[in-house]
Amino acid sequence: MVLLGVNIDHVATVRNARGGLLPDPVDAARIAEAHGADGITVHLREDRRHIKDMDLTRLRQSIATRLNLEMAATPEMVDIALDTMPEMVTLVPERRQELTTEGGLDVIGQFKRLGPFVCALQESGIPVSLFVDPNPEQVSASADVGAACIELHTGDYAHAWHRSPNAAQQAPLRQLFESAELAHQLGLMVNAGHGLDYENVKPVIAMPHLHELNIGHSIVAHAIMVGLGDAVAQMKVALGAPVSHQWRSESKNPAR
Ligand code: PXP
Repeated sequence: MVLLGVNIDHVATVRNARGGLLPDPVDAARIAEAHGADGITVHLREDRRHIKDMDLTRLRQSIATRLNLEMAATPEMVDIALDTMPEMVTLVPERRQELTTEGGLDVIGQFKRLGPFVCALQESGIPVSLFVDPNPEQVSASADVGAACIELHTGDYAHAWHRSPNAAQQAPLRQLFESAELAHQLGLMVNAGHGLDYENVKPVIAMPHLHELNIGHSIVAHAIMVGLGDAVAQMKVALGAPVSHQWRSESKNPAR
């Protein structure tokens, strides 16, 4: 079954809106893990707009599953990763003005710059995943630069879904599947994520060789309505997990 990495950035976004301590991302990680999260993902952004350095330190100490640190490829971030030793680093492009990560990494265009970062992290025992668009040239370059894994950007597919679920299941989904197949042939592990929700995720889980999905916004948004535990458990069901009696009677499941 496809694994679920729960991105808890927006728990920190809510906390930061008041500048206090609540809701605590560490508590959120604990609840997500207790309800089936296979890993916890956070994005330490240059401007620290959601997760902050202290969150990362505390998460490292408390996470019982796996910590996936999303970050820009910069010397500052690599130093932080080497101090934190997450189970995986996912390198993402970062522009200060964007609301969220908007496109995949240009691995081809930044090949020379990315290589030393990938090498430094992996030689220290941290597997590196590159967040890339479902484009065969970017996938091939990811293998050539030495990454262990790619995370396929599902944003275009998700946008297409909002316009027309049927159309999304044609070209955008096919591009994802073909990129996943190529990545596997090149020896890369395949993750995916961005813009996935309880409905549009269902066709995605048929992606060949898919290891893990990283999902944040839709889970945190649903958590406001039903609680984080149920929101995570319901996403696990959308990914194919059996319905757990823990939450079945507690709230309506949008995944069915
Ligand atoms: N994967 C990557 C690389 C991301 O940057 C994000 C957003 O931070 C996600 C997955 C999760 O996207 P969403 O919040 O839309 O589920």
